[in-house]
Amino acid sequence: MILSSVAGLFTSALLLSKAPPTVALNNGVGRLPFMGYNTWNAYHCDINETVVLETARLMKSLGLSDVGYDHMNLDDCYSEKNRSASGDIVANKQRFPSGMNHLTDEIHKLGLKAGIYSDSGWFTCQLYPGSFQNEARDAKQFQDWGFDLLKYDNCAVPFDSILRQGIVGKYSRMADAIAQLAKKSKKPPLIFSLCEWGREQPWLWGRRFGHSWRTTNDIGPEWRFLSSIINQNSFITSATDFYGRNDMDILEVGNGELTFDEAKSHFTAWALMKSPLLISTDLSQVTNETLEILMNREILAINQDPVVGTSISPFRWGVNPDWTSNSTHPAQYWSGESQNGTVFMLLNVLDEPADMFFNLTESPWIRAGRQYSVRDLWTHTDNGTIFRNFTARQVPAHGVVALLMKDAGDEPAGLEPPCARLEWCMDQNGTRIDNINF
Ligand SMILES: *[C@@H]1O[C@H](CO)[C@@H](O)[C@H](O)[C@H]1NC(C)=O
Ligand SMILES: *[C@@H]1O[C@H](CO)[C@@H](O)[C@H](O)[C@H]1NC(C)=O
Ligand SMILES: *[C@@H]1O[C@H](CO)[C@@H](O)[C@H](O)[C@H]1NC(C)=O
Ligand SMILES: *[C@@H]1O[C@H](CO)[C@@H](O)[C@H](O)[C@H]1NC(C)=O
Ligand SMILES: *[C@@H]1O[C@H](CO)[C@@H](O)[C@H](O)[C@H]1NC(C)=O
Ligand SMILES: *[C@@H]1O[C@H](CO)[C@@H](O)[C@H](O)[C@H]1NC(C)=O
Ligand SMILES: *[C@@H]1O[C@H](CO)[C@@H](O)[C@H](O)[C@H]1NC(C)=O
Ligand SMILES: *[C@@H]1O[C@H](CO)[C@@H](O)[C@H](O)[C@H]1NC(C)=O
Ligand SMILES: *[C@@H]1O[C@H](CO)[C@@H](O)[C@H](O)[C@H]1NC(C)=O
Repeated sequence: MILSSVAGLFTSALLLSKAPPTVALNNGVGRLPFMGYNTWNAYHCDINETVVLETARLMKSLGLSDVGYDHMNLDDCYSEKNRSASGDIVANKQRFPSGMNHLTDEIHKLGLKAGIYSDSGWFTCQLYPGSFQNEARDAKQFQDWGFDLLKYDNCAVPFDSILRQGIVGKYSRMADAIAQLAKKSKKPPLIFSLCEWGREQPWLWGRRFGHSWRTTNDIGPEWRFLSSIINQNSFITSATDFYGRNDMDILEVGNGELTFDEAKSHFTAWALMKSPLLISTDLSQVTNETLEILMNREILAINQDPVVGTSISPFRWGVNPDWTSNSTHPAQYWSGESQNGTVFMLLNVLDEPADMFFNLTESPWIRAGRQYSVRDLWTHTDNGTIFRNFTARQVPAHGVVALLMKDAGDEPAGLEPPCARLEWCMDQNGTRIDNINF
């Protein structure tokens, strides 16, 4: 008896330590960043079926769903404080009197998908029921209610003596439940959006379990929140690719005191860093300027790039030395690959307008000795053909420039210097032409 249970323990410990990634996430669901609406920043707990469905209708009538914003996601506060006698989460009777199936039916009728929210602990952050120890039951409830996506928060964590696992184990509980439910029901798995706020490095392990993982504390509608989130994410861009990505949090475009230029920078950084894009402004009050930003199709196309899943990354920090972490002055010069060429993002982190210069080959994605056509993704203009370098003139304070550069053939002969990057540049005859000493 003793021997066999010891052996049993040993086997299960072995299984645990050798356990492969819980979910094979390359299953067709969540390959690209999800886009849509989240109720939290505009409404907090003041949600109900009227406001949710009105927002969903506006997503349709304003054309937001046509450009890809196809999720209507509820956040916290949709349920009763107590589970039912049989242990199920119950939709709040005042706020959602017609029930969740009615809600998701109406959302689906509009051609949208529906998202729901829960928590990996005892309670949600607003102290509604969390899913700890109810993972399978709740995943099934969410699926039965007709939801397609689950945002999973990190409040009300059980004591260690109950949990007996770390953050990875805590999130794998719901990931396992979702995977098993999908297997059993033969329905697509819920898109799983992890909301662990970055202290426990979800970019290192989130890909095993989720389609996205929050990397920072909550966003707010001011520039200092945006610059700080961009700074933190600038160091972990390589965690992002198809099926799993850094989630920089809900968009504040249209909220608070953001200037037009700040809102453009915000949207550009989130989109090109391949974050999920979740609108959170009150759409019944939305301005044309806000819509112009949110509906920039050329930038959205890159967020939803079907060929390249990776993020842009900084190639030079700019005002600060490379690799400096600075929450008010993050990296300024960024580039990345895309289906149609190399994408550049220039971010003016200063409080006044600035010219921004870079040599093309500072970006790893540019070929030496070639010229490039320039497309400005905000003015939607072709800005000619360049070689060697580019200067964006008078980029506004906290403003952005987004460019798509396409190879346009060999550069003209005889350009000096013979190597755009002078480090260790050498003639075949052995003459070193730079005078840089390393
Ligand atoms: C629904 O929520 C909205 C926004 O908070 C509020 O204006 C409205 O009164 C609410 N409606 C009901 C029926 O509670
Ligand atoms: C909810 O559950 C708690 C604890 O079981 C109980 O004390 C409370 O009365 C319940 N509240 C309602 C509204 O049923
Ligand atoms: C906003 O755009 C719509 C559609 O293009 C137009 O009809 C409306 O007049 C614009 N509103 C303002 C305030 O510019
Ligand atoms: C690439 O260009 C094609 C043709 O203009 C466009 O349809 C597509 O969306 C672009 N892809 C990206 C990732 O920008
Ligand atoms: C951030 O960078 C700016 C610009 O270099 C500098 O003035 C500021 O002191 C830095 N902040 C911190 C906290 O280091
Ligand atoms: C930028 O490139 C051009 C060639 O296209 C060259 O004449 C110019 O000196 C370069 N500027 C800098 C600052 O390197
Ligand atoms: C591209 O050209 C447009 C139209 O001339 C201009 O408004 C814009 O500033 C240019 N973009 C850059 C980055 O220079
Ligand atoms: C740009 O290239 C020129 C010519 O090689 C070089 O002198 C300059 O230092 C480079 N600037 C940057 C920021 O790389
Ligand atoms: C060797 O290369 C250098 C730099 O291109 C050139 O100036 C020099 O004339 C070359 N010498 C010979 C012997 O070819």
